[in-house]
Amino acid sequence: MTEFVKVARVEDIAPGERKFHEFDYETVIILNVNGEFYCIADLCSHDDGPLADGPLNGHSIECPRHGACFDVRTGAVLALPATAAIPTYDVKVEDGFVYIENLDE
Ligand code: FES
Repeated sequence: MTEFVKVARVEDIAPGERKFHEFDYETVIILNVNGEFYCIADLCSHDDGPLADGPLNGHSIECPRHGACFDVRTGAVLALPATAAIPTYDVKVEDGFVYIENLDE
């Protein structure tokens, strides 16, 4: 069964905004797209650069290094030069808080 960790109040991540969360071995980005929350790895599959503050256009996040785009809902590649999807993680909202899948052991 998936374990979740509380990462923010819903109002702490406004639409179009993001928050970073560090696990022991991975940093993830929690994004609010029009009131829906998504969680992706902060790691571009092109050259392992961070997606960091890359521009968000709808459900597409653009890597600031070479411009690859990924769908934050599925991790799928939307634009080259990346060819492999990035990981996405489970998110849930309960009682005004955002929870994400716990990646720590
Ligand atoms: S590292 Fe992201 S497009 Fe190159």
